Amino acid sequence: MARRKKIYEGKAKDLFEGPEPGTLVQYFKDDATAFNAEKHDTIDGKGALNNILSEYFMNGLTQIGVPNHFIKRLNMREQLIRSCEIVPLEVIVRNYAAGSMSKRMGIEEGTQLPRPIVEFSYKDDALGDPLVPEEYIIALNWASQQDLDDIISLALRVNDFMSGVMYGVGIKLIDFKIEIGRVWEGDFMRLIVADEISPDSCRLWDIKTGEKLDKDVFRRDLGSLTDAYTEVARRLGVLPGNVANAPKPTIVH
Ligand SMILES: Nc1ncnc2c1ncn2[C@@H]1O[C@H](COP(=O)(O)OP(=O)(O)OP(=O)(O)O)[C@@H](O)[C@H]1O
Ligand SMILES: [Mg+2]
Repeated sequence: MARRKKIYEGKAKDLFEGPEPGTLVQYFKDDATAFNAEKHDTIDGKGALNNILSEYFMNGLTQIGVPNHFIKRLNMREQLIRSCEIVPLEVIVRNYAAGSMSKRMGIEEGTQLPRPIVEFSYKDDALGDPLVPEEYIIALNWASQQDLDDIISLALRVNDFMSGVMYGVGIKLIDFKIEIGRVWEGDFMRLIVADEISPDSCRLWDIKTGEKLDKDVFRRDLGSLTDAYTEVARRLGVLPGNVANAPKPTIVH
């Protein structure tokens, strides 16, 4: 049987040609990498969990009018997405200090920031995805000032949505990363949320216990990554296998 043409082989996902022009199939793998792929492992169930969680968050964003690439989930590992031209930036939103910010600034992990901070890294593995100022982005023509304003506004809307959804199930959204893509509609270019939103790209801490429920479990060898992601999916009522009639989210007090 003819298999779809693979367009891109990534660290966590593969992209295949979609059934119609302007579409792609995004395949979620079980591979986990950290520290610019220095640490690598295969984690049973991670791909399916991220596929379902990204579907859940992107659908929620669609409901509140935040444009994104998600069209529909095809099966446990694959989703149909709108093809776009990825802006070569990692757009990071931070509500609490953690990870590289804590290291760089000497601020203790978990310190609440006075307001959400949006920052940008240049997506380049060879350079280790370095932090870039807005000046660079505009001068090097990766995005215009208007694009950047739109990207920041999209990122803050995603932040409000994700913070609220997570708060509802007893989880604190520490920070997250999104990618933004360009799509053309006639002569008009639109910026949309692309890639994935999952515990691979967010920091999620249990509100009561501070337990980590994200990729730091893998980065820092804190236990089972599958268990952590399963817990997030369970709280949101989207555990794989139960997707057809998923129960309502459980409120955790
Ligand atoms: N809608 C989309 N259209 C085109 N490309 C996309 C879309 N959504 C995500 N991508 C790209 O697909 C790839 C997904 O694979 P994966 O996340 O595994 O990449 P990666 O190995 O982590 O590399 P990267 O550093 O580029 O993220 C990324 O390069 C991402 O930018
Ligand atoms: Mg990636």
